[in-house]
Amino acid sequence: MLGIISGSAMLPAIGRDIERSAGTPWGAPSSPVWRTRLAGGEVLELARHGEGRSLAPHRINYRANVHALVEAGATALVALHTTGGIDAALAPGDLLVPDQLIDYTWGRETSYAAADAVVHVAFDVPFDAALRARLLTAAREAGCRCHAQGVYGCTQGPRLETVAEIDRMARDGCSVVGMTAMPEAVLARELEIPYASLCLVVNPAAGRGEIDPADMSRIAAASGDQLALLLARCLRGFE
Ligand code: HPA
Repeated sequence: MLGIISGSAMLPAIGRDIERSAGTPWGAPSSPVWRTRLAGGEVLELARHGEGRSLAPHRINYRANVHALVEAGATALVALHTTGGIDAALAPGDLLVPDQLIDYTWGRETSYAAADAVVHVAFDVPFDAALRARLLTAAREAGCRCHAQGVYGCTQGPRLETVAEIDRMARDGCSVVGMTAMPEAVLARELEIPYASLCLVVNPAAGRGEIDPADMSRIAAASGDQLALLLARCLRGFE
């Protein structure tokens, strides 16, 4: 079953039943895992920032979240991320399915491996190619404006970036900036679960245009229907 990690943008569901609300060996996940009904079927959904949006990006227990979804039966994970657009082609309201990422975070738990074990998981291609292709097909069918390639730069937050930081990220090749794809993506890789990111651009990144927090929330809230439509298409034929 497809697992969805929803972010600041949540899915407008027809219904939600709790599939699993227990803790994990890694502590408590941000929310219960819900069995969420969309028009096109069912997904397992977990709210990354908690039910009341109370968890900042650096306080999220990413290990517990990914583990809880897998325990509940998720066989692939689509992660929704709200982001700032660095590349001028990425305007607020646009979607992106990134194919690469750069990790600027620090101090987060990035592995399930025991403290005395050395694990070097392959991560040259951080997002699952087949799941990305499925998302892109679904976006086309759903009539969404969705960019097919880009680099997600993951910052520590919770503050937004300075202009100089975004200029550096642009030189590094980042297309968008967000705060939550890491370590989520690498934890899914350690558990050998396909993981792909669906980014919604909610603001121009620092120095790239006016940032209005009210606009960010408005765009995240307004995008729910299109994300649900896209994911409903994505579900077709998914085991
Ligand atoms: N920076 C980092 N994370 C974000 C942004 C941003 O501009 N917008 C939404 N998430």
